[in-house]
Amino acid sequence: MSETHAEAIEANKKEMDLNFARIYDELDSQKFFNSVNARVLLEFDPLKVLPPTDSVIDKLVDLPKPGSDLWISKEPRSILDFAVGTGSLTEKLAPYLQNGSEVVGIDINESFMLLFTERIERLEVTHPDIKFEAVINDVLNDDTAQFQDRFDLIFLTISYHHIHNYETVTKKLALFLKKDGHLVIIDFYNEDVEKETAPGKAPGGAVQHMGGLKLEKLKETLGDLSGLSNVSAVPFAELKLFLPEKFIMNHSTQSTIDALKDGKLPQKIAKDGSNLFEITIKLVIATGTKLS
Ligand SMILES: C[S@@+](CC[C@H](N)C(=O)[O-])C[C@H]1O[C@@H](n2cnc3c(N)ncnc32)[C@H](O)[C@@H]1O
Repeated sequence: MSETHAEAIEANKKEMDLNFARIYDELDSQKFFNSVNARVLLEFDPLKVLPPTDSVIDKLVDLPKPGSDLWISKEPRSILDFAVGTGSLTEKLAPYLQNGSEVVGIDINESFMLLFTERIERLEVTHPDIKFEAVINDVLNDDTAQFQDRFDLIFLTISYHHIHNYETVTKKLALFLKKDGHLVIIDFYNEDVEKETAPGKAPGGAVQHMGGLKLEKLKETLGDLSGLSNVSAVPFAELKLFLPEKFIMNHSTQSTIDALKDGKLPQKIAKDGSNLFEITIKLVIATGTKLS
């Protein structure tokens, strides 16, 4: 493991401490991201072309009815929620999984994982025939043989831009897929990252790739580097929501940051009394399949 990768992990743990983890799930913004991510994963179907939904989403989205004809529900699935955080997305997917499915959540952050473990205890009561497992580890460590060729679906939501050595991590995750298994990355994206002067690491270091990654870089990482097939990376939706200044500085386009500095963004006061500013932010979905 490189020193910089280890430093990025420490920065993530420091910035997203237990105090932050406890309020994380309750943030309006997190509930919003979570509902959109859940919908996208529930509607994920490797045989269907991704919908070019350029539309602006400005409220929680409805989820499909459990029992409907979804890829994720068709047979017992083995799923890895990588960089799982508190596991709120795993909880949303659980009612759609067949008995005999398993969901493993991996993360490097003990604080988030404490909350995920508490969540698993509740999920084991409501879904006794699904196996849930929490693993605190950096997958670049050697002790990961148990995950080799194990998963039908591995997903990462709004976490890829936190991972310094995302290329090596992705290569490792590809090894964790079964044959015909799928990797799905949903992350923030803004066009500024395509420019020569793309922003890099945010102050503090928890965000390693401000604004996300270039579309070609995502495709190259999943395809040439990790050996996945049917690779794609497309911006698919624009979310309109209120977020704090720090988030905007670390994730948004320069024009949004300029509007913030010029006092041109609509404002509101959060429950804790802090200022929030209304922005739109794009999401990208990158997918690949392990064919052999
Ligand atoms: C913004 S949170 C997203 C959590 C969750 N996926 C969600 O959608 O709510 C980013 C997560 O990435 C995790 N993370 C950062 N670097 C990581 C790494 N190298 N390996 C595993 N997880 C990592 C953090 O600990 C944190 O839980």
